[in-house]
Amino acid sequence: MASTTAKPATGKLGIMVVGLGAVSTTFITGVLMARKGLAKPVGSTTQYDRIRVGRGENKKYLKVDEIVSMPKLDDIVFAAWDVYPDNAYESAIHAEVLKKEDIEPVRDELLAIKPLKAAFDHNYAKRLDGDNVKQCATRWDMVEQLREDIRRFKAESGAERIVVLWAASTEIYVAPDMKYHGTLATLEQAMKDNETAYIAPSMCYAYAALQEDAPFIMGAPNTTVDIPAMWELADQKKLPIAGKDFKTGQTLVKSGFAPIIGTRMLGLSGWFSTNILGNRDGLVLDEPANFRTKEVSKLSTLESILVAEKQPDLYTNYFHKVRINYYPPRNDNKEGWDNIDIFGWMGYPMQIKINFLCRDSILAAPLCLDLCLLIDLAHRAGRYGTQRFLSFFLKSPMHDYTKDEVPVNHLFQQYVMLKNAIREMGGYEADEEID
Ligand SMILES: NC(=O)c1ccc[n+]([C@@H]2O[C@H](COP(=O)([O-])OP(=O)(O)OC[C@H]3O[C@@H](n4cnc5c(N)ncnc54)[C@H](O)[C@@H]3O)[C@@H](O)[C@H]2O)c1
Repeated sequence: MASTTAKPATGKLGIMVVGLGAVSTTFITGVLMARKGLAKPVGSTTQYDRIRVGRGENKKYLKVDEIVSMPKLDDIVFAAWDVYPDNAYESAIHAEVLKKEDIEPVRDELLAIKPLKAAFDHNYAKRLDGDNVKQCATRWDMVEQLREDIRRFKAESGAERIVVLWAASTEIYVAPDMKYHGTLATLEQAMKDNETAYIAPSMCYAYAALQEDAPFIMGAPNTTVDIPAMWELADQKKLPIAGKDFKTGQTLVKSGFAPIIGTRMLGLSGWFSTNILGNRDGLVLDEPANFRTKEVSKLSTLESILVAEKQPDLYTNYFHKVRINYYPPRNDNKEGWDNIDIFGWMGYPMQIKINFLCRDSILAAPLCLDLCLLIDLAHRAGRYGTQRFLSFFLKSPMHDYTKDEVPVNHLFQQYVMLKNAIREMGGYEADEEID
């Protein structure tokens, strides 16, 4: 989408987060702590990266906010929805991601973030049983109530602009079905007809956000905005959308490591990824229908980096498997194992093992910040529709599958797309090629 230089980031930016669980509370607490100077926003591109602008003698390495006008962390105001009534302080303690000493200094601000009633349908996440839920006659009614929430928060907080971020549980897999998801008109009709099997609650959040002039980001692998009807709405309302699924642990490693195999012309016969995870996300993903959504997302990464059609000798028929195992003792501290079977000169086999002992929410929090700030930037720059430059942060980047468009999963190509877009929105030339 053609872009212009971004408008200045004046006033407050309202970030409304769907889900007030481990990721959201780690994100919010970190922002509140960072603006008091009590923590560093490590891992955040918008806060740390230096991007080259200009070439040769004129080149400079600038921080993102020196290239484009960006909100300060002080300019952000938060709201959230959740199925459980716990406020952000209680939820952060319950999540057990952060130590109490990293939460207490911002206790009062966290206590004030009380979740709005969720737009929820138990059939979409059977392991959740909270009662902080809206009573909705139809999906259309759900949309109306969410729109009202957004309007009220905007008025009460004085936010100039709103971004809506989904950091709630992974819903069961909803396959795109053109009868319902094909056009905006069919989607709206399905909402009015209360077609609950085809209209996930997340679609109501996204639809409500776009109707209220708020860009929408899907941080889970849910289908939600990855359907032609939502693309049509985003185009009509001139709003940016992004998704799906934060690229944090194993898939980050995969999209950064697969290029090593691909650039050295080594062959791949199999890649087996498994991990153990014990937080509420892991509990929800223990349900096969919810895991299916994640599996589709995680499997898509390799096939567009190591491509059989381009190198049939090296990448034909490799075996790719991904598993997530719910294992409560580890809570948010996920452990991932990757076993990679490669082959070299004359077909001789070799193995690579990667063991990543990560912290899921610690990796996801900076992505929440970057995605929210950058989609707001895109909005101010007049960009709309799917923001491919945000693929850098996403496991399963949205692409137009109705036109056989192939997503870019290669981490370093995604990084070039990101830098080029920031350059352009700052009025500089997008001068790097994607090879
Ligand atoms: N942490 C990571 O590395 C990572 C990476 C990629 C994607 N994700 C995704 O991010 C999401 C959040 O992860 P988490 O660890 O914070 O999970 P979590 O279970 O701690 O938090 C999710 C919260 O969402 C709430 N929720 C569920 N459905 C809702 C609805 N319809 N409306 C409002 N609230 C709702 C739940 O009650 C829960 O409190 C998950 O979908 C996860 O798959 C996380």
